[in-house]
Amino acid sequence: MPSFGWLITLSVVVLLGSVVYQNPQPLIKPITNSLAYKVFEQLFESTHCYVTVKTNSAGLPQAECFSVADGKFRRVFLDETSYDIVKERRKGHVIPGLWDGHGHLSQFGESLDSVDLFGTKSMDEVKKRLVEYKAGHEEAGTSEQWLRGVGWDQANFKGKWPVAKDLEIDGHFKDLYIMLDRVDVHCIWVSEKVLSLLPSPLPEVPGGEIVAKGVFCDNAMDIVMKYYPKPSKERRTKWIQDAMFELNKHGIVGMHDAGVFPSELKLYEELSTSDAWTVRVYAMAECETRNTFCAEDVTKISTPDGNFHMQSVKLFADGALGSWGSAMIEPYSDKKSSSGTLLVNATTLSKITHDWAHAGYQVNIHAIGDLAARLAIDAFEEALKTLCPGSTLRECQAKHRFRIEHAQIIHPGDQQRMKEMGIVPSIQPTHATSDMHYAETKLGKRRTSEEAYRMRSLLPLKPVFGSDFPVEPVDVFEGIYAAVTRRSPKTGLDGDGKTKGWYDDETVTLEDALEGFTVNPAYAAFLEGKAGVIEEGAYADWIVLDEPLETLDTESLRSVKVKETWVGGKLVYRRAGPMEAPW
Ligand SMILES: *[C@@H]1O[C@H](CO)[C@@H](O)[C@H](O)[C@H]1NC(C)=O
Ligand SMILES: [Zn+2]
Repeated sequence: MPSFGWLITLSVVVLLGSVVYQNPQPLIKPITNSLAYKVFEQLFESTHCYVTVKTNSAGLPQAECFSVADGKFRRVFLDETSYDIVKERRKGHVIPGLWDGHGHLSQFGESLDSVDLFGTKSMDEVKKRLVEYKAGHEEAGTSEQWLRGVGWDQANFKGKWPVAKDLEIDGHFKDLYIMLDRVDVHCIWVSEKVLSLLPSPLPEVPGGEIVAKGVFCDNAMDIVMKYYPKPSKERRTKWIQDAMFELNKHGIVGMHDAGVFPSELKLYEELSTSDAWTVRVYAMAECETRNTFCAEDVTKISTPDGNFHMQSVKLFADGALGSWGSAMIEPYSDKKSSSGTLLVNATTLSKITHDWAHAGYQVNIHAIGDLAARLAIDAFEEALKTLCPGSTLRECQAKHRFRIEHAQIIHPGDQQRMKEMGIVPSIQPTHATSDMHYAETKLGKRRTSEEAYRMRSLLPLKPVFGSDFPVEPVDVFEGIYAAVTRRSPKTGLDGDGKTKGWYDDETVTLEDALEGFTVNPAYAAFLEGKAGVIEEGAYADWIVLDEPLETLDTESLRSVKVKETWVGGKLVYRRAGPMEAPW
């Protein structure tokens, strides 16, 4: 009786399914790896119910259950059939998986494998951390594997730039190859050994500055990078995996990688098919030579499972504020002789933007100073004028979605132009709270109050929020807190040490902040309806929290800890112990 045998097989599969349904977590790992489960998953839906499910979907903003099939949400619904007692037993409150709209995946992974200099308050503290790190990492500091670190700030060395000699901490350190990134990763500080590799005299680099013996900023970093020993594929792979684990831990299911070299893009593409790839990546290509057109080195791609997307490019108009590198319309208030540095002139910026846009790429320009922002907007406007004959600039921009990365200091007139065209600002709320201590000194009162670190003013443009990790911590809830309060997530205080909030007229609501980390990055990555939302057909990515966010008091927002993170219907992180639990 062949039909009876088929029935038995079916019942076994259904039984298996109901076990998963009752108690999904402990069984997930062994089962998901089996072929039987994969077949089962294709044929049947697995259903998940929670106390509340916030969907970000207009159709059903609040739900209780959803089903998942083939890595996507299938049904999202209120459970009208379960008894109250069953509902009470459910644990957790769900929101859509979080996206960081501007980060650096490999660099973050590398930073986990480097000396952490963030928060150091003096040269002595830097030296102490280097010595401690070296003690635990014998291998670091050779000519093949330089000792790396990130997070120093000359403001903590009494405003004096460090020099190579400062790294000769003792006789042993004298022979080490050391390269340490400034807190904003726009300058590097290297040891004498590294300097000995470089040509003499050192070349002049347009858009770059050697600010002290051993400190290279912006384009001048290329002089050193030419000699930096390329890490092996194994190490780079490990960095990516370590980075993804950390991101999952903070509820991040996807990220926009703001600058990936062609060789790295190939590695991403290769790794994105493996089970260890647990964060969706939307990559912006960065040519080996900055601010050039290198379409022949890259390929547009969107993998069927949605793990990896590449259809955009990153250009750089200027440097960063902390090192007076951002290009300003007027001179700095604390350095009247300087108005910063453009990394590229207006003609070239417009030309490269035009070329990439016509090759079908979204163009995302790093612009921190108001002059850089103006030139970026000019470049976008010129490109839009030629891209869509017969439609308005706004309609054309809706197709191309050009972005300004950081969008940090923008002249009021240019903010208006952005709104007219619909140019997407990509904002890092924690940059505002990290820079609030010195921004007004550098910019003066008027520029700070009208131009700097706008958030609420730019809400009509659906700003993408991110952290710029590893420049700032990956914790999205710190970003949400910074956006909602304009106070430091570390101290809870504003720049004056008060609780009012720094220029608190630019705060946003919790709802706006969440959109900045979910639906807005989805739109800016051409993934609307697929990411940042729990609705039929979207990627089955969600996170579980202990409490609904809107019931928390504001102060608790900065310390929210994620309970679980699910990507493509698979559990990738659960609090209290890593995935490799005893099962
Ligand atoms: C802009 O830069 C390019 C490339 O460096 C150069 O060839 C060109 O002359 C510059 N244009 C202006 C107007 O300075
Ligand atoms: Zn960045």
